Amino acid sequence: MKVQIITLFSEVIEPYLSASMMWKASKNGQANFELINLRDFGLGPRRQVDDTPYGGGDGMLLMVEPLTAAIEKAKKASPSAKVILPTPRGRIYRQSDAKRLAASDNDLILICPRYEGYDERITSLVDEQFCIGNYVLTGGELPALAIIDSVVRLLPGVLGGEASAEIESFQDDDQAVEFPQYTRPEVWQGQKVPEVLLSGNHAEITKWRNQQIRKSTD
Ligand code: ADE
Repeated sequence: MKVQIITLFSEVIEPYLSASMMWKASKNGQANFELINLRDFGLGPRRQVDDTPYGGGDGMLLMVEPLTAAIEKAKKASPSAKVILPTPRGRIYRQSDAKRLAASDNDLILICPRYEGYDERITSLVDEQFCIGNYVLTGGELPALAIIDSVVRLLPGVLGGEASAEIESFQDDDQAVEFPQYTRPEVWQGQKVPEVLLSGNHAEITKWRNQQIRKSTD
């Protein structure tokens, strides 16, 4: 899966994609990450990417023209890619979205808005708008990384068999939350590992784990 990220702050994105599972997915060819610097598509000698809002108001808005040019470039490399806009105005992003995106044959293009907002006409260029939680961040980089991570870990071979089983299962969004797990020592500061996990009885362990899966609270 080719994943292109349009951002003004590559330095925020790069370290995350160069470590751990994202690095491994990239090294093994399951994901191919590419950063596109929105500034390269800015207007005029100052490479302007934002401007003041019509009707007044605080702050600057991301302009539609530089973003259009950046998306066009990304689409050239990946014509059938889905364009995703992280925004507090999108619908809540869920595990089922990650599964759907991972299972589809489409590449991804993620836009990272910055500053106080963006020209609403940007939304005509995007396929899906996602909010990663009911709070507001200063930009789209963290939400974009959250979406990328949740999709890439489900690509075949990235985490081994575990995630592929997850993608094929009928687990719903609420069950995406895992059961509690323990490793050594068996007793730590008086807290014991649950007896059933030491029993070696796999049927009982599975039953206990299914009972322990926390339900989503929303
Ligand atoms: N941009 C700023 N806050 C956001 C959020 N909670 N989800 C997605 N994009 C955002």
